[in-house]
Parts: sequence; C-alpha cells; structure tokens
Amino acid sequence: MSTILLTGATGYIASHTWLELLAAGHDVVGLDDFSNSSPVVLERIAELSGREPVFVRAGVTDADALDALFSAYRIDAVVHFAAFKAVGESTQQPLRYYANNIGGLLALCTAMRAHGVGRFVFSSSATVYGRPETLPIREDAATGATNPYGETKLMGETILRDLAAAEPGWQSGVLRYFNPVGAHASGRIGEDPRGTPNNLMPYVAQVAVGRRPRLAVFGDDYDTPDGTGVRDYIHVVDLAVGHVKALERLLAHPGSFTVNLGTGRGYSVLELVRAYERASGRPVPYDIVARRPGDVDSCYADPARARELLGWTAERGLDAMCEDSWRWQSLNPAGFDG
Ligand SMILES: NC(=O)c1ccc[n+]([C@@H]2O[C@H](COP(=O)([O-])OP(=O)(O)OC[C@H]3O[C@@H](n4cnc5c(N)ncnc54)[C@H](O)[C@@H]3O)[C@@H](O)[C@H]2O)c1
Repeated sequence: MSTILLTGATGYIASHTWLELLAAGHDVVGLDDFSNSSPVVLERIAELSGREPVFVRAGVTDADALDALFSAYRIDAVVHFAAFKAVGESTQQPLRYYANNIGGLLALCTAMRAHGVGRFVFSSSATVYGRPETLPIREDAATGATNPYGETKLMGETILRDLAAAEPGWQSGVLRYFNPVGAHASGRIGEDPRGTPNNLMPYVAQVAVGRRPRLAVFGDDYDTPDGTGVRDYIHVVDLAVGHVKALERLLAHPGSFTVNLGTGRGYSVLELVRAYERASGRPVPYDIVARRPGDVDSCYADPARARELLGWTAERGLDAMCEDSWRWQSLNPAGFDG
C-alpha cells in the first residue's frame, strides 16, 4: 500500500481517480485550491468511499504549503492534475496559464526533490499531437502545440524528461488523455464546468437537462463519415483506472514512460448526440454552425502501448459514457453547488 498525493484533487478526473486509488488499497492525500472545483466533492468522496478524505487546501504554486505537506505525510508518488485547461481562455490569458501550469509543475517537482520523492504521474493531453498526420495516433507521432494550454502540456513533458535524464531517482509516467467524458456510476460525482462548457458532452448534457436551449455543432463538412468531427471519447472511470495502473507500474519498475489513454475508437459529434438522446430519453436539438479555428477532422489513439506496458484497456463504451453522464446530470442539474 502506498500513499499518493493528488494535486487538483477535487477536480473532475482527480476525484474519480481518488476513489479508484482507495478501492485499490492506496492512501490518498488530496490538494486543491478550489479554483475550478467545489468543496462538496470532499463530502461525496467520503460518502462513496466510507473514509474521511485527507485533504490540504492550498495552491500547487505555494512552495511553503508544499514543503509543509511533504513534511507532514510520507508520500510515495504524486499524480499532478492541478492545471487550468480551457484552450480558448489560454489564448487570451497566456501568462496566467504559464504561471499556473508551469509554475505549479516547477514548484511541485522542486518540493518533491527536496523531500526525496521521485515518482510522478503527469496529466498530459492528446492536444500535444497538434494536427495529427496519421491515425490512429501513436506516442511516437510528431508533437506540436497550437495554443498556450497545449504548450504548457508539451513543456511539462519536456521538464519531466529532462529531470529523469538528470536525476537517477526520478521517474515519470506521462499520460496523454484523449477526450474524458462520463461520470461515476453512482451519479454522485461528475464533470461540473463553471460557466459555458468548453467540451461537447457536458454541453450536450446541459441541453438534455434543459439548462441550455440548443447545441452548436461546429462544422459538418469535415472529412469524416457524417461530416462532423470525430474524437476518441474515454470514460472517466476507465481513465482513473489507467492512473492506478500507471502508478503501480512506477512503484514496481524502474523507468519513465509516455502512454496514450484512449479507446482507439472515434465517434462523430452526431453519433455522440444520438447516443445521448437514447441514454437520456430527451431530445438534443442542434444547429450546424461554422467550423472552430484549430479543430481537426479526426483524432483517436492507438492504445497499444498502454495495454502492453500497463495492462490497461478502456472497458466502457459510448452508451455507458452517456448513461453515466446523464445520471450525474439529471441527479445534479445545477452541479455540486446547486
Ligand atoms: N478534461 C479534459 O478534457 C482533459 C484532457 C486532457 C488533459 N486534461 C488535464 O487533466 C487535468 C485534470 O483535468 P480536469 O478535467 O479534471 O480539470 P478540473 O478543472 O476539473 O480539475 C483541475 C483541478 O485543479 C485545481 N487547480 C487548478 N490550479 C490549481 C492550483 N494552482 N493549485 C491547486 N489546485 C489547482 C482546480 O481547482 C481543479 O479542481 C488537467 O491537468 C488537465 O489539463 C484534461
């Protein structure tokens, strides 16, 4: 049994990972500043796990808070989720994104080094592939960011690679997520975006529940079977299990790695809309509008390396993703603080 620090612990992906880590027998220390999440998540984790969460409210850029945390708990490994993640906002507020995403990573690695902790799992993203040249996308494909958010992920990967090369005790698992969706099967935790959702499924969910009138579909003239963009959606619980497997690999074997976490299967916007209508029994009216700059036709993973290295494969299909999202959305129509 190991003790794992989760930064960004009350966020969407981390909260699901927290539950999977506890279920796998690990202890968890969570850290978050609630800049994009609610303290109610802690109550839900207590309810679902039957354990009182160990939690520190602090910013991951706060060196003193990190020093106090690593002094108070014997941490075996860190999963670093804390970051800002809105692509559009990152183009308008690049300094804020670099300060939080790169500043946070540097502060965290510095504190870990000072306390002799060298195992690190990093939330990266398929966005590092920019415009993919071949599909499915393998980890050795060319990388290139198209916005400041993507740059922070690429830079984060570079920092971790350089650290592992320089310091024998340092090992990192870089996880490139495709499109996380869905929610915990209980309907008690899920994605709760503040303001207008940036991602498709939470937007569709809010239309289905009546919070927004219609969905805007950005373009129907892409080079895909129905003309709408194709993405690799991955159930957040499968993604959470991927983190447990990555940590267990780092704790048991020397060496760093980079893996895609995706299903290997792409669905179009309209396929997702229809699956959501089936799952919810509600109509999701939509309008086709202009393409969004920067969007690609199709993007899906080759998940072979994660299977070979971590023994991990995504198990939940599109219907389960929509059903679990809908359970969360319909039980919590206004999110955690509603
Ligand atoms: N959701 C996606 O589509 C997606 C895809 C690829 C990668 N990622 C990455 O996965 C990670 C988690 O994403 P998510 O979707 O769960 O986002 P999220 O916003 O729900 O979670 C991030 C959490 O980090 C916290 N946080 C942000 N800055 C902080 C700071 N300085 N100090 C302490 N806490 C801070 C927020 O309050 C939030 O709880 C992020 O690094 C994100 O970039 C997400």
